[in-house]
Amino acid sequence: MTNVAVDHEYTREGPAGSPASVRPAAVVWLTGLSGAGKSTIADALGPTLRARGLAVEVLDGDVVRTHLSKGLGFSREDRDLNVLRIAFVAHLLSRNGVTVVVSAISPYRAAREEARRMIGAFVEVAVAPPLEACIARDPKGLYAKALAGEIPAFTGVSDPYEPPLAPEVHLDTTQIDVQTAVDRIVLALEERGHLGAP
Ligand SMILES: Nc1ncnc2c1ncn2[C@@H]1O[C@H](COP(=O)(O)OP(=O)(O)OP(=O)(O)O)[C@@H](O)[C@H]1O
Ligand SMILES: [Mg+2]
Repeated sequence: MTNVAVDHEYTREGPAGSPASVRPAAVVWLTGLSGAGKSTIADALGPTLRARGLAVEVLDGDVVRTHLSKGLGFSREDRDLNVLRIAFVAHLLSRNGVTVVVSAISPYRAAREEARRMIGAFVEVAVAPPLEACIARDPKGLYAKALAGEIPAFTGVSDPYEPPLAPEVHLDTTQIDVQTAVDRIVLALEERGHLGAP
């Protein structure tokens, strides 16, 4: 994967003088194919976590690509760079007590593992319906174009997707509805002590 030099000033602990009492908050990282349901679940999870009293930021792949990663393409190098930029921002938020929900395809395992190393409180969620279901849903009409050869390097069609080997949460969104998916993630956060005292 992309070899990104880590700046010497950048540490997981944060700058000297940052409040020691702030416990790193979780980063919920939703990975999966286009149309898997990442954004749909993130949009439901954010308000649920806020209702539990958490400060929450959602970093969605589509939004990130129009701002933080504007100009990046879909080569492996650019995809990895996109993931590492998201991880960097997620980590900054997390170490200041903000729970982060990331919804981004993030197709390469090595880049996700690098994100895990950077972040620490990393909760990987595999949003994993079968590819056929994503093609049938095709909410953005992208699979039709990709299958017609109109979009090069489309994940799952003409570009790789490496599923997580041991995600904290695995969701087949053809078997469970959005609310159940949210409940499973909330449970995983609860089990890891990320929701504080009830
Ligand atoms: N159980 C479910 N969970 C999530 N989405 C579901 C579920 N069942 C059906 N869907 C539908 O599947 C589609 C998922 O689209 P969504 O935009 O969330 O995918 P995505 O993973 O964010 O894709 P992309 O990577 O292209 O942004 C939506 O139309 C949603 O309504
Ligand atoms: Mg999305």
